[in-house]
Amino acid sequence: MLNGAFSTGTGGAGHQFVLTKQVSQDDAMNFYHTLLGFRVSDRIVQEIAPGLIADAMFLHCNPRHHTLALGEIPGPKKTHHFMLQVTDRHDVGFTWDRVVKTGTPIVMTLGSHPNDHMLSFYMETPSGFALEYGWGGLTIDDDTTWPYRVYDRLDDWGHLSPQAEIELLTKGLANQAG
Ligand SMILES: [Fe+2]
Repeated sequence: MLNGAFSTGTGGAGHQFVLTKQVSQDDAMNFYHTLLGFRVSDRIVQEIAPGLIADAMFLHCNPRHHTLALGEIPGPKKTHHFMLQVTDRHDVGFTWDRVVKTGTPIVMTLGSHPNDHMLSFYMETPSGFALEYGWGGLTIDDDTTWPYRVYDRLDDWGHLSPQAEIELLTKGLANQAG
């Protein structure tokens, strides 16, 4: 049960991060941006491992910061994740607790992105792609000037793999134990 509600309305159901596996990002942009009229929000390019570049374009078609992201990053499926946004930030915490307690596989821990400012975490769906569950994503007013930016990082803080989070916590506990 939610304290608030799912944030939908003019922003649609949420957003989807699609991996451009069988078409180039340019071809995907030609379809979504040039043909369908999705507007560019921003882009993130980050070297996530030596020689491995994550490159994602973020597009909007309503006030939501992005309804579609086109990414060239590693992933097992054609969809990296879809996102559902809630109107009450406490629901992110309550759902996080529930996910942890039920043993639902976590893909990324709590964190925030630099471009849409979403407070979110990612869990794995039975289909193998991720579900981002978040609150507080930016909206874009197309009647004002939107400064297109290219960010050099996917996350401002958090969004660690569970393994990385556990290693840090374990290290901290070991230090406390002296
Ligand atoms: Fe997302």
